[in-house]
Amino acid sequence: MEITVNLGPRSYPIVLDRGIAAALPIRLKNNFPKSKFGLVTNTTLAKLYGDLIGQWERDLGCTIHCMPDGERYKKLETWGAIFDTFLPAKFERSSVIIALGGGVVGDVAGFAAATLMRGIACVQVPTTLLAMVDSSVGGKTAVDHAAGKNLIGAFHQPRLVWIDTAFLDTLPPREYGAGCAELLKYGFIGGPDHFDFIAANGQSILDGKPAVLLEGLRRGIAVKAGVVERDEHETRGERALLNFGHTFAHALEKYFGFEALLHGEAVWWGMRCACELGRRLGTIPGHSVARYEALMEFFPRPPLPSVPPAGELIRAMQFDKKVASGTPAFVIPAAPGSAIVKNDVPLNLVEEAMNAVLSST
Ligand SMILES: NC(=O)c1ccc[n+]([C@@H]2O[C@H](COP(=O)([O-])OP(=O)(O)OC[C@H]3O[C@@H](n4cnc5c(N)ncnc54)[C@H](O)[C@@H]3O)[C@@H](O)[C@H]2O)c1
Repeated sequence: MEITVNLGPRSYPIVLDRGIAAALPIRLKNNFPKSKFGLVTNTTLAKLYGDLIGQWERDLGCTIHCMPDGERYKKLETWGAIFDTFLPAKFERSSVIIALGGGVVGDVAGFAAATLMRGIACVQVPTTLLAMVDSSVGGKTAVDHAAGKNLIGAFHQPRLVWIDTAFLDTLPPREYGAGCAELLKYGFIGGPDHFDFIAANGQSILDGKPAVLLEGLRRGIAVKAGVVERDEHETRGERALLNFGHTFAHALEKYFGFEALLHGEAVWWGMRCACELGRRLGTIPGHSVARYEALMEFFPRPPLPSVPPAGELIRAMQFDKKVASGTPAFVIPAAPGSAIVKNDVPLNLVEEAMNAVLSST
């Protein structure tokens, strides 16, 4: 199946199916007949998918750059090393970078594509559930800085996203669970029908049943594509809806360190806090909050290393790059499947909501 992100001259297809990885070179040779190709992946994927990478290397004649694995390597040095491989290989404006990996590889390789020769084509081939449903689509690319996550980056839309759900067969269960949180998020912002779909198919999604998973991904990606089409550069407010639970999640990631708590795990807790905040602010009736909670609890509850002090999390929120004039914005449920952004939430209510949720770990 194919979904188009409609952005005028920057429009691109997202091709989604099980078992399509080997067919990527044919598509690329059709789309970019005269281009040089470079593949960026990481050490874990290079071991797991050596045969596939070898096939792409032969079919496309591509130069391979393998980066170390982990969020801690999502930094400027790792980004710079990509140029050390591709520039001596005589990359030019027409060259194409293929990003094979999860959100970390996608963000770093995407940022390299955004900046090499002032911007070359990028093809995203996501291999984690989180990257399939979220990070490979939408054009946000970045590396982290000691001052915070994703602080150095660019908007650079891919030219093609190629999603083969068979990659998920080798994904560790913890990473799969973290991706489920982002899949759930799209159920929470994507309208009542999508909410009901996730509610009705939770077990099949957890079990990775191919057809249901493809349909869940298709729905989630379609929601993201629509939001990106309406607010590509996050200037109109709507793209902020994608941050459901993320104000809390970023503070949790900062408090625990980015590898003790995975991004998707932090999002799971962030969404629980957002629901509790919604209950306390009255943006959503209590019986509806209960539906969200039941759905989230159906998925594995990610363990927190300890109970984080709410006051420290609030301090961490002030440093989030999305904080306008010191007031964090919160995306809060409004009804099953829809959410609103609020910029004027009293911080004592935020603290109470976090205490209620996080002390129950
Ligand atoms: N650009 C965006 O819009 C956006 C959106 C959400 C998240 N992100 C970013 O995404 C990153 C998180 O991405 P992630 O959750 O994919 O983490 P990740 O890229 O670190 O991947 C998680 C782990 O799974 C391994 N892995 C990947 N695919 C595998 C496979 N098929 N089989 C076995 N192992 C595999 C990786 O090597 C890694 O160890 C964060 O840096 C976050 O900031 C970006």
